Amino acid sequence: MAEQEILKMGNPILREIAEPIKEFNTPELSQLIEDMKDTMIANDGVGLAAIQIGILKRVIIFGFEESPRYPQSPAIPMTVLINPSFKSLETESETGWEGCLSIPGMRGLVPRFKKIQYSGYDFLGKKITREVSDFHARVFQHELDHLDGLLYIDKIENYANFGFTQELESANAY
Ligand code: NI
Repeated sequence: MAEQEILKMGNPILREIAEPIKEFNTPELSQLIEDMKDTMIANDGVGLAAIQIGILKRVIIFGFEESPRYPQSPAIPMTVLINPSFKSLETESETGWEGCLSIPGMRGLVPRFKKIQYSGYDFLGKKITREVSDFHARVFQHELDHLDGLLYIDKIENYANFGFTQELESANAY
């Protein structure tokens, strides 16, 4: 149970596809989830995928009460999702600013489905299904992408809306 090193963009592991979890309620899975929580919290993250600490398994975590990284965003309950999937409940997507602990100091404007239903399993293998929208839906889609080797920068439509957080802040870009 300890904070792990977060892989940064350029590390080829971040471009690999993670494998589904087949066995639930195991000591290895428990350890992985604890490590992910410790790592996410230590870095003020709002979400983390196992692949970001070098583990190629389909496990994501997300949630926060208040985020210094996203101060205007409403709280999301702390969630562990194993083998996650989703469907969009609307064809509409909306753009919003995203960052990533694997791409420190930068932000980009990324389109995501606005309203989705996601599913996955908890540590014991019990199914979780939720309908969510806005930032909660965005965080989920961002973390799920990690499991398929995708980063938010792959989905930016206009690279004028990508840059260093400090510069974007001084320009009042968001
Ligand atoms: Ni990320």
